[in-house]
Amino acid sequence: MEQNRGNWSSRFGFIMAAVGSAVGLGNLWKFPYLAGENGGGAFVLVYIVLIIILGFTLMLAEMTVGRHSNSDAYGAYNKIKKGFGFIGGFGILSGFLILSYYSVVGGWVMKYITASFSGIGADKSEYFSSFISSPVEPIVYHLIFMGLTAVIVIRGISGGIEKASKLLMPALFVLLLLTVIRSVTLDGAMEGIRYFMNPDFSEITLKVVIAALGQVFFSLSLGMGIMVTYGSYLRKDEDLEKDAFLIPSLDSLVAIISGFAILPAVFAFGFAPTEGPGLMFITLPAVFESMPLGTLFAALFFLLVFFAALSSSISLMEVTVAFGIDQFKWTRKKSVLFFTTLMFLIGIGASLSMGAWSDFLIPWIDGNAYGIFDFLDVLTSYYLLPLGGLFGAIFIGYIWGVPNAVKEIKTGSKFRTEKLWTILIKYVVPALVFIILLSTTGVLERVFNL
Ligand code: PHE
Repeated sequence: MEQNRGNWSSRFGFIMAAVGSAVGLGNLWKFPYLAGENGGGAFVLVYIVLIIILGFTLMLAEMTVGRHSNSDAYGAYNKIKKGFGFIGGFGILSGFLILSYYSVVGGWVMKYITASFSGIGADKSEYFSSFISSPVEPIVYHLIFMGLTAVIVIRGISGGIEKASKLLMPALFVLLLLTVIRSVTLDGAMEGIRYFMNPDFSEITLKVVIAALGQVFFSLSLGMGIMVTYGSYLRKDEDLEKDAFLIPSLDSLVAIISGFAILPAVFAFGFAPTEGPGLMFITLPAVFESMPLGTLFAALFFLLVFFAALSSSISLMEVTVAFGIDQFKWTRKKSVLFFTTLMFLIGIGASLSMGAWSDFLIPWIDGNAYGIFDFLDVLTSYYLLPLGGLFGAIFIGYIWGVPNAVKEIKTGSKFRTEKLWTILIKYVVPALVFIILLSTTGVLERVFNL
């Protein structure tokens, strides 16, 4: 079993893989449209505050649990305290469900690589909606995306995951900056910049806070044991404190830059910021059309978005696969094949819910009913991931004990923020996540008539 696990070949490799997991469709696709839907600057402000309070704290928490126990997400919690594997199990379930629909969006991105060459036409919005609602093509792309993820994960930890991330993350960053330059210099871009950067405090509602919380977990790959799993491949002299600062910072930077690539252009071209999941797919082709060599840039851009999505999907799959290897003693290959098949099937439902199955709605405890795609998103981002984070914080604060966690962190780090982290993980994070979770279910509104 041990020889199945492997280790990171370098610190840079680990950082890039962790950043590779964090930076993905969450930053490039989801963050801009959530900001657009939730008051622009108001959302950005709440998001940044939550990253500072929660993001760093939980990132460090998860990496510490992983490195201490040297095990998959389920085994890690179980090893530290028998009976608590369910916390990791929770995360594995989230990862499994997220990848099922994430792969569908990954497929959309692949379609846009080729569509950049063949042309998207004048009505970008129509092009997007007729593509995602068609019955066969998006599922074929979903299959290819899932298959590629599986192939990389079968090759194992440093062979596939690390090599791919090291090269592609920096490349994406450069191309993203180029896109920002074009977007902010468009006529009428200023209005978008203002919308994105100037928070209107009256726009900060409960809905905005809930959306921002879900996005913090989703974007940082938190609350589901990915950082536990990745941390388990780390050496004892690694400075966890530094990593837990660096990874969320880089991730948020990419999210904000994506906002600058997309929102100014949304206003310049007269699209609606509240467009939703189609925002990136509708806006960016218009931006590229207004650039010299636009076709080439468009294809290259979507290619790199695809790689960013792939390095995230790899991490999503790795959590589930490591569980199969460590707990069922499966070979890596068997574990990959088994879980990939299941996720592919669920993803078919998610894709069809954009078209043929759009009338099939799942009623939910918040009083709404969702299609399969939206249901998977709402269930994971707003419930399962925050719950995973809440359990993780309680586990460290009250079951394993903060002093034990601190001891683990200190094997490789000076840990200057020990006092602050202790207060955050023990009191602030559990309380905050609990309150927001309650309001997500609508319980607070019903009880207090908010
Ligand atoms: N963080 C990834 C992104 O922003 C998605 C993801 C979520 C990956 C949860 C792993 C776990 O695209």
